[in-house]
Amino acid sequence: MNLNPKLKGQSALVTGANSGIGMAVAIALANDGANVVVNYVSHPEDAEAVVKQIENNGGNAIAIKADVSKEDEVSGMFQQMFAKYGTIDILVNNAGLQKDSPFENMSLADWQLVINVNLTGQFLCAREAVKEFLKRGVVHERSMAAGKIICMSSVHQVIPWAGHVNYAASKGGIDLLMKSMAQELAPKKIRVNSIGPGAIKTHINESAWSTPEALNKLLTLIPYGRIGEPEDIGKVAVWLASDESDYLTGTTIFADGGMLLYPGFSTNG
Ligand code: BGC
Repeated sequence: MNLNPKLKGQSALVTGANSGIGMAVAIALANDGANVVVNYVSHPEDAEAVVKQIENNGGNAIAIKADVSKEDEVSGMFQQMFAKYGTIDILVNNAGLQKDSPFENMSLADWQLVINVNLTGQFLCAREAVKEFLKRGVVHERSMAAGKIICMSSVHQVIPWAGHVNYAASKGGIDLLMKSMAQELAPKKIRVNSIGPGAIKTHINESAWSTPEALNKLLTLIPYGRIGEPEDIGKVAVWLASDESDYLTGTTIFADGGMLLYPGFSTNG
């Protein structure tokens, strides 16, 4: 039990929270006192398991199904959230996927799927959250801000990624979506920031860590010498959602073990 929860009484929505980074973020926010919506689009049993885990830790959560790339499903999800928790204080735009292929073979369907979920999904969820933040304003007992949005980006908002152009384009798009929203909404006391994870051990990059050979190759890209754990990102999300980071808006915190330090240059160039 956390005796000094940073997010007490606040309500958070985490998209794509039934696995990987989203799951760790949902659990971390709940452990710090937030009521959490565990959004998912498939595998309801996994979402329910996250809810159970949160409840076992003494927290409060519900699972809500919605495809973040569908406008009507997003607004339905927010309505369900408001019916249960009354409002939203924290949005974590986490849902995302990869559909990798060599550039010349990339289908339009795979391009669009990745842009729709990773980028348009963040826009749709942020728009619903911002409407509520503006309507409600600051509630001083809960937070100094009227609302906080955390966009899950990637080191690939900076690092080009061969064979993954749809994914890298979606993450580059998130960067300016986040910054433009932050600029527009700061006067309304809404903070918008991103987290840029490096290689975090989840299903999305299983082929990069599931064999010793793959892991050793991956580690040459990570100066700090270990793959990230989803909990590494959960901790950053709690801090970014809390008033401890009240003066941060429009910025990306990279949690990548130094992947962005161009480790190839440590013995070269
Ligand atoms: C990707 C992972 C990858 C990591 C570092 C993430 O955004 O989803 O597949 O391992 O970036 O390259």
